[in-house]
Amino acid sequence: MSPRVIRIDPDHPDDALLQAAADVLRQGGLVAFPTETVYGLGAHALDPEAVERIYEAKGRPPTNPIIVHVASIAQARQVAAEWSETAQALAERFWPGPLTLVVPKRAEVPDRVTAGLDTVGLRMPDHPVALRLIELAGVPVAAPSANRYTAVSPTDAAHVIDGLGGAVDIIVDAGPTSVGIESTVLSLTGEEPRILRPGMVGAADLAELLGDVGHRGDLSEGSEVHAEAGPASSPGLAPKHYAPRAEVILYDRPGEPGITDHIANPASGWIALHPPEFDHAGPVEVLGDQPTDYARGLYAALHRLDAAGVETVLIEQPPPQERWRAIRDRLQRAATG
Ligand code: TXA
Ligand code: MG
Repeated sequence: MSPRVIRIDPDHPDDALLQAAADVLRQGGLVAFPTETVYGLGAHALDPEAVERIYEAKGRPPTNPIIVHVASIAQARQVAAEWSETAQALAERFWPGPLTLVVPKRAEVPDRVTAGLDTVGLRMPDHPVALRLIELAGVPVAAPSANRYTAVSPTDAAHVIDGLGGAVDIIVDAGPTSVGIESTVLSLTGEEPRILRPGMVGAADLAELLGDVGHRGDLSEGSEVHAEAGPASSPGLAPKHYAPRAEVILYDRPGEPGITDHIANPASGWIALHPPEFDHAGPVEVLGDQPTDYARGLYAALHRLDAAGVETVLIEQPPPQERWRAIRDRLQRAATG
């Protein structure tokens, strides 16, 4: 069965249209919706059977906890068992926005959401449609990215239809997302705040409030602690993640040995920082040399190259600088597919 698609103007979300999606959420159905990062696959976060459907639709391992989306700080406090001054300060500074805060959970949050952990990841998305949908539903909304497990996250409703199709009751289409890669996940439950998943809110941004913040599970740092990780040590960070169908090869310089052989191969696609100097037989995606533009375009480029049927995707690695950390992390994972 094909899902019902509701088109919403992100600048003027139409309540009458969104109400239908909100009702489906309240009644335990699945609604894919846009956030500023990627499209989410939403379900009523306090309804274990609804949440179960997310795992089924995604083919996601049950050890992988799901982020709960809220429309306000007040709603986050109703889900959290403890809300520290640090959590409050971070939420005031970065919400709505691409930062997920992991805090102790209340008993009402089903184990199915948190994969048995006593913590919950909370986030208030910076997207008028997401916020209005959550408000109209009147419940917190559990939502992982709306893709099959390990596939590339969707940044457009068409990606959701291609990847999940009939497994979703309603898809809310408000056009492409603006940030383009998933939120930063910050744990506030240990002795020190720690970044579990890098995102476009970086350690430098968090330093304003937190001072130095450490990272965990960042493959671009050479750590593989999460390869076998269970829920206790932040899952969802398995190395194979965000991978397209094609094989991904990362390279550092356009003229690099082994890479030039692909230039004449029409089954080799490319993701580059700058327009290439030579004609390439296969499709080339140029994402630019600014992290925000690059992040916005990355997943759509991977989806297009997959749709073009290329066998290999060659990706020029951005420089090993802090501002590229989240993007380099996603590229490493795509290449581990
Ligand atoms: O931008 C995003 O975060 C998107 C949009 C839809 O909001 N969502 C998303 O969800 O990327 P998902 O399920 O694909 O990734 C959730 C990440 C995983 O790395 C998971 O391990 C982590 O958040 N996470 C969620 N709850 C957690 C918890 N209680 N403790 C530790 N990590 C948690
Ligand atoms: Mg995901």
